Amino acid sequence: MSKIYHPQKKMFKEPLIKNMCEYTELVEKFEEDYEGTWACFADEKIDWFKPYDKILDESDAPFYKWFDGGELNVAHQCIDRHLETKKNKAAIIFEGDNGDQRILTYRELYYEVNKTANMFKNKFGVKKGDRVVIYMPMIPEAAVAMLACARIGAIHSIVFGGFSADALRDRIIDAEAKLVVTADGAYRKGKPYMLKPVVDKALEEGCECVEKVCIVERNGEDIEWVAGRDYSFEELVKNESSKCDAEPVDSEHPLFLLYTSGSTGKPKGVQHSSAGYILWAQMTMEWTFDIKDNDTFWCTADIGWITGHTYIIYGPLAAGATTVMFEGVPTFPDAGRCWKMVEEYRINQFYTAPTAIRLLHKTGADEPAKYDLSSLRILGTVGEPIDPEAWSWYYNEVGSGQCSIVDTWWQTETGGHMITPLPAATPIKPACATFPLPGIKAEVIEADGTPTEAGEKGYLCITKPWPSMIRTIWGDKERFKKSYFGDCKKDGKPVYFSGDGAMKDEEGYITITGRTDDVINVSGHRMGTAEVEAAVKNHDHVAEVAVVGKPHDIKGEGIFAYVVLKSVPVEEKDVVADEMELIKEINGVIKNEIGAIALCDDIAFVPGLPKTRSGKIMRRILRSLAKGEEVKQDTSTLEDPSIVGKIKEILDA
Ligand code: WTA
Repeated sequence: MSKIYHPQKKMFKEPLIKNMCEYTELVEKFEEDYEGTWACFADEKIDWFKPYDKILDESDAPFYKWFDGGELNVAHQCIDRHLETKKNKAAIIFEGDNGDQRILTYRELYYEVNKTANMFKNKFGVKKGDRVVIYMPMIPEAAVAMLACARIGAIHSIVFGGFSADALRDRIIDAEAKLVVTADGAYRKGKPYMLKPVVDKALEEGCECVEKVCIVERNGEDIEWVAGRDYSFEELVKNESSKCDAEPVDSEHPLFLLYTSGSTGKPKGVQHSSAGYILWAQMTMEWTFDIKDNDTFWCTADIGWITGHTYIIYGPLAAGATTVMFEGVPTFPDAGRCWKMVEEYRINQFYTAPTAIRLLHKTGADEPAKYDLSSLRILGTVGEPIDPEAWSWYYNEVGSGQCSIVDTWWQTETGGHMITPLPAATPIKPACATFPLPGIKAEVIEADGTPTEAGEKGYLCITKPWPSMIRTIWGDKERFKKSYFGDCKKDGKPVYFSGDGAMKDEEGYITITGRTDDVINVSGHRMGTAEVEAAVKNHDHVAEVAVVGKPHDIKGEGIFAYVVLKSVPVEEKDVVADEMELIKEINGVIKNEIGAIALCDDIAFVPGLPKTRSGKIMRRILRSLAKGEEVKQDTSTLEDPSIVGKIKEILDA
């Protein structure tokens, strides 16, 4: 049985949820009056422009509506309403790769957002409901662009800066974006890198929807300008008025789209709402991170992922907090960078991914001891399972055994935390997400809704709709239903299935056991194996490919591809003779189609794939082989049972 770590009460002054009794009371309050309790929070937290008529509308399930009839504005919620009490408080503290700093107070952020919103409207003709793709580095202008969209009711879709031109193009086309906001480039590990050329390449074909490109200057490197399409952010924004009324939008108006990987090749545009999303972003900021007025909060994610959306921008700002935005990487100039920043900014909550913790542990185990980390109160992790070794280093060396670790389980689709310890209340078991937050009906069940026995694996489902849930997949309602409400039922009604497996122990603690679908988790980034396969297939010599995850020391999971080559005519034989060259080429194709985040760690050339007689690839066998494990599955039902032995021989060699 795991050791239990109790919260150090002295670290917390008036937390919102003080102990497990209060937690249970709140859970029961939701049980007694689910909608009414959500309404209490919505009334207390949101500055409504117009009150809502209905708390939860289930008439068109699973297309749930929350707080229908109400009107609000998320930029107003995140900025304007704080101006009376916090106008000179730091909203965003920016630290660049090379250590340059910029601080935006709430008042300054208000002016910047208003000017940018005016520019979007007046210069680029962006209207309520239009889509704006943001392809930006981690600089304050990215936050400003997001909030400017929210201010005028435009829907932003941020594409992570590590995605390739092809991946960016797919997302622009799917969202039919009118405007692309980007930067010349930025800095990484002391050197400039470029983004604008990627946008140019993406726009070469099929992006007729894009009318204008707005470019922020960050690294000052030379870029090409397309006349009539490309405009300088700085040049245009300086002439705009710093007054811009916040556009009232309906509760259900989409705040943003964020593309994420699923089990087919095409990424899904996860659509979030305005009211439900911002409510939960703010509430979880307060509950999970115990955010207080004088705190400085640092989430190391990139704004290109949901963690960056909810816990660098929307959650902290809605809660009126100070949020740190960091352009660089945790290991530059050395593995003490994060701890140096914690000391300098007196960071109170530090939130990162297990991959980063493992990397910092492996490359700089002694670094935390060199800095004063006494300001830290809460350490968070997200995005992938954390292993006990990394957990223990984080807890003991970074947190000096004093901080609460919040292992937060959630997803792009859930908008905010779902299962996590409450820092002042929950007795923690290492590497365990513990209990669902109040209001979140997370259950571990069989596909028919039967609760699993303690210690048994089951499907992790959310069996009641919640305000910050995904509303649909942009442009594909059927796929939304099928992807999330097609697998599990409770009391005969479809319920949200996360795609993750989980296990509940005797005391009700929930541990996430990982994805049950063909999605792998590389450095906390979700990657669809089908997406990688689709890219690899574009190499001329590839006949078939199957991609699986393989445990990786730092990244959690690495990408392993089994490739079957086409039989090539004799005269071309020497072209494919060199496997090393082919591996490079295949990775080159992946880099072009998706980006460097999807490069394969291993590529094995095999004579065939283990398939059933109906042609289904038995990935479980491939996973075992990749791990070097004995294949326990029954291979007699395979079309060619001898293939397993042949693959094993190749891998052993
Ligand atoms: C995984 C990131 C274990 C999980 C916020 C989920 C986790 C996927 C945890 C979502 C955790 C997230 N422990 N696994 N604490 N948090 N995951 O959409 O497989 O990028 O389904 O959202 O990450 O990834 P996404």
